[in-house]
Amino acid sequence: MNIKIAVLASGSGTNLQALIDAPDLGAEISLVVSDRPGIVALDRAHDAGIESAVVPYGEYGSRAEFCSALNEVADGAGVEALVLAGFMRVLDGGLVSAWKDRILNIHPSLLPAFPGADAVGQALEHGVKVTGVTVHFVDEKVDHGPIIAQQSVPVLPDDDRESLHARIQIEEHALYPRVVSAFARGRIVVDGRRVRWE
Ligand code: GRF
Repeated sequence: MNIKIAVLASGSGTNLQALIDAPDLGAEISLVVSDRPGIVALDRAHDAGIESAVVPYGEYGSRAEFCSALNEVADGAGVEALVLAGFMRVLDGGLVSAWKDRILNIHPSLLPAFPGADAVGQALEHGVKVTGVTVHFVDEKVDHGPIIAQQSVPVLPDDDRESLHARIQIEEHALYPRVVSAFARGRIVVDGRRVRWE
């Protein structure tokens, strides 16, 4: 039986769309959660007939209150995992420990290189020849938890932020559904910082 997941997004939601379109995800996207109204990811959820919820970050007095509201929404939907897809908020320790090894994130670099919001720009600025995509479990630190899968992407001489991010996103859209599908089938085992695929 498919597990139920929530996808959390803050923007255009192309990774959400890749998960929606995946032919054999093994997971039912029961809920899409956004931290602000009016984003394209919410339209994608609507078009796919998926329930959505907005938990507006600005309306909470603290990160802890925001995260506790997120927790309630996810619990209420009966989901077993939170899949972050371009979700631009840092989750607090309470939420992370309540969902230990059940929060996934996708990041546009080969972590631990270039954590944070501008991974693509930093890779260009640093002059690396290879960057990529990382899918990892979320822990208390930003872009830091155990790494589940990575895919490299070459940096081309004429790349700018847009062209490089576009090629990274092609890999993201292939990798995230594969990882979520393996996770949903119980094939991903965490052992400290190391993750095994079974
Ligand atoms: C992706 O590049 C992802 O790695 C990063 O934010 C971006 C979200 O893109 N965390 P989208 O909203 O899925 O199109």
